[in-house]
Amino acid sequence: MIRHFLRDDDLSPAEQAAVLDLAAAMKTERFARKPLAGPRSVAVLFDKQSLRTRISFDAGIAELGGHPLVVDTQVTHFGRGETLADAGRVLSRYVAAIVLRTHGDDRIAEVASHATVPVVNALTDTYHPCQLLADLLTVRERCGGTAGRTLAYVGDAANNMSHSYLLAGATAGMHVRVAGPAGFQPDPEIVARAEKIAVGTGGSVRVCGDPVEAVRGADAVATDTWTSMGQEADGLDRITPFRPYQVNDALLDHAAPEVIVLHCLPAHRGEEITDEVLDGPRSAVFDQAENRLHAQKALLTFLLEASHP
Ligand code: CP
Ligand code: NVA
Repeated sequence: MIRHFLRDDDLSPAEQAAVLDLAAAMKTERFARKPLAGPRSVAVLFDKQSLRTRISFDAGIAELGGHPLVVDTQVTHFGRGETLADAGRVLSRYVAAIVLRTHGDDRIAEVASHATVPVVNALTDTYHPCQLLADLLTVRERCGGTAGRTLAYVGDAANNMSHSYLLAGATAGMHVRVAGPAGFQPDPEIVARAEKIAVGTGGSVRVCGDPVEAVRGADAVATDTWTSMGQEADGLDRITPFRPYQVNDALLDHAAPEVIVLHCLPAHRGEEITDEVLDGPRSAVFDQAENRLHAQKALLTFLLEASHP
């Protein structure tokens, strides 16, 4: 069976832990494993902009002994009539895996349902699961583990990062708290799924409106842009209602004394996070960015092995 990674809960708790263990090992022995030796190619396709995802997959695939094919889909037939189903079928004849950043989840699901190689979600409107593997690796490193730790996400609680924190955090046995203003709350179906996962892992899920309540005693506090890619002209006020959710020193006073701060980047400094916090001693943001590389190498290795045992 081909294993895809389209959303965070495509990995069971045990599988997520195994990928994070492998990521930590690969970080220590960076160039030791070459599951893509040949080299086998991996297609990395972008319907949206990227810096970290693009470069970390490109470098990571090369470090695994493979050949990265990084393509902006505007130069392909993606946008002018070739069906995603046909693209999935054709690409599967060339490459060992397909990594795709796109808009709706229906698009990546369509590619995956016709691909005969693993498909990886490199961000959609609803999820950013590769980012969460890096975030969890960072929490492990900085907090000594994930299970039982409290992670608060404040800001646009309706976006892809919020949904992935709920699902991946619950899978990791964390107590996930999410806070955003009215009108920017997570999808209730995803919250319900996270709650169900948390029952099995000993974690928990809480959605609230009050940022202070969310960060109280938290071991990790995360935020993200208030305006995700594609939302720039959606006509909503994406500043005023969010101001109380800014991650600044005053908000962090309510968190645990050893709290770490996460941000997937790119940051809009002075909006969702202050310079003082992002550049300060509690920031784990640049370790988090580095961990994209190690986590994605481990994920690709896992999916390739699981798909062809
Ligand atoms: N965090 C993240 O996915 O960054 P990019 O959009 O630069 O890839
Ligand atoms: N929520 C952001 C994440 C960017 C990495 C976006 O979708 O633009």
